[in-house]
Parts: sequence; structure tokens; C-alpha cells
Amino acid sequence: MNSTFIPARSFQAKLCKVVGALLLGAASCVSAQDFPAKPITMVMPYAAGGPGDTITRLFAGSMQKILGQQILVDNTSGASGSIGTTKVARSRPDGYTLLMIHVSHATNLAMYKNLSYHPVDDFEPIGSATSGPMVIVARNEFPPKDLNEFVAYLKTNQNKVSLAHAGVGSASHLCGLMMMNVLGVKLNEIPYKGTGPALTDLMGGQVDILCDQTSGTVPSVKTNKIKAYAAAGKSRLPSLPDTPAIAEAGVKGFDINISFGLYAPKGTPKPVLDKLTAALQKSVTDPDVVKRLDGMGVSAVSVEQATPNALRAHLKNEIETLGGLLIKAGVQAN
Ligand code: MLT
Repeated sequence: MNSTFIPARSFQAKLCKVVGALLLGAASCVSAQDFPAKPITMVMPYAAGGPGDTITRLFAGSMQKILGQQILVDNTSGASGSIGTTKVARSRPDGYTLLMIHVSHATNLAMYKNLSYHPVDDFEPIGSATSGPMVIVARNEFPPKDLNEFVAYLKTNQNKVSLAHAGVGSASHLCGLMMMNVLGVKLNEIPYKGTGPALTDLMGGQVDILCDQTSGTVPSVKTNKIKAYAAAGKSRLPSLPDTPAIAEAGVKGFDINISFGLYAPKGTPKPVLDKLTAALQKSVTDPDVVKRLDGMGVSAVSVEQATPNALRAHLKNEIETLGGLLIKAGVQAN
């Protein structure tokens, strides 16, 4: 009897179709093999023009070339990113609706008593994408001439300096909280749907200061539309070498780094998740992506970090540390 060797792939395909038709519905099997068969939506839960939007569009552009299907960026903003995140949590778990998000995926759990999703239970992590620092910037006419004068000015003008941020628990809000905490100052918080619109008001002089990710601020600093007082960390940033680090003013314990990660809704088939992780890993090693991120002062993560387990561990750590910091600070969203 001549045995015909069935290559694993076609055998699997046939088995999947039979099992899929009988038990799981053929669609779930076939779709996994044919994924992506139509455009994908990547939700960025902050307004267009901010650092999150910039990073999302960069990865959407890279991953669509790899996957061979268009990736449309959907800026569903509001409530510190929880409106867009809810939209993804409630979408069909088929891989065609994804979420690109950062620290607010962790902090919203602590911020909102009636959050309509759980950041861990309602999502499948695909992998981390970027990691980047933050910088304290101001409108050009803000009076202090340097970092030491900036610190002194905030201390003598308690509750008079306006701080823009992207909503309770956002990266810009966390940085503002750390600033108030370590400097012992009170700032007048002005929330926005993202730091894109906040930056517009900063350039227009409607708001005094903002702590934002370099992907949202470096270009405006370099073109003198706003001014930078300090990198929000221990050391200066290669993208802004003339800007001192906040540590140079003797400020300790102020060091914040923001990482973005990609998620799909819970229940997305594993073969689909694997394809998305593989595409993300190709993107984080894409020379064009790495170069453009570097120009914004942001790093692409390593291939090992662009994995579900790495992102799951990162999220767990942020829930425990940053969520805890907000609760200790008595911060709650409305
Ligand atoms: C933030 O958390 O401040 C957001 O990243 C701002 C944004 O992307 O609009």
C-alpha cells in the first residue's frame, strides 16, 4: 500500500475545516487561515495629533505592508482613553479591531470605579511596541528662564500655573502628578482628550505647561513653537541635548518612561494573534520604523518584548506600581 504523505499544512487545513464545521463553525477556522482578509482597525484612544496617535500611525503604516491589508487608525478618544478601549473590548474577537495603548490601560483600572472592561481579562496582549521618555515643556512666554527658575516659580505661584494633560491616569497626568509630588507644588489641571489638542493650546499661550512624551513634543521644541525646561528623568535626552534633566535641579525620584503595546479583544483566535505578533515583531525591527522613532526620542522595543508574555508582564507591573501610586495620591476619575 503506498502511503501518501500529507504535508502538515494541508492536513491541518482539512482537519481544521472539518472540526471547524462540526464544532466551532467553519468561519472561525477558515478566517484564522485567511487572516487578514479585509482591512484592520487600530483604535488609538486619544485624539489625533498626540504622541499616541503618532506612534499608532507609524506602526499601522508598517504592519499593513507586512500583513498585506490596510490598517485604519480610529481615534476614539475621551475619559482618559477608556471610551476607545471599551470599543475594542466589545468588538468581535476576530483580529480586525485592535487597541494601541500605554500606561492608561493600567491606571484606568484604579481611576474608574465602574470601568466597563478589565484591562487583563477582556484583552489578548499581542506585544509591546515602544518605550520612550517624557519632557516638561511650556508656552514660549512662560516667565522662568531656566530649570531652577522654573522650580522656584512653581513654588511661589501655587495653584496659579495651569498644567495641561490628557485626562486622569494618562501619561501626561501621571507626569504632572509626579511633578507636583516631588516639587511640593499645586498646579491648576486642565484636561484634554489628548495632548495633541493640549499642545495646540500651549503653542497659543492658552495654557502654561505640559509634561508629554517626546514623540509629541520634540518637533515643536526644535522649531521653537514651545520651550523645554527639563527631561522628566535622571539623564538628558539625545533628542534634546541642551535640555537639562530634572535630576540636575537636585530633584530625586522623578523618572517616567512610557511604553505602548498592542492588544486584541479576549477570544481572538490564537493563529490570528500569532500572525499579529509576527507582524509587530517585523515592525519593531523595520529600519524605517526604528529611525523615525529615534528621531522622536523613542525606542522600538526588542523582538523579545514584542510578545504577548512580555506585554502581559509589563501591564501587570504597571497595574501594581502606577495604579497603586494614583490610589495612594487619592486620585479618582469622576
Ligand atoms: C497621554 O497619556 O498623555 C497621551 O499619550 C496623550 C496622547 O497621546 O494624546
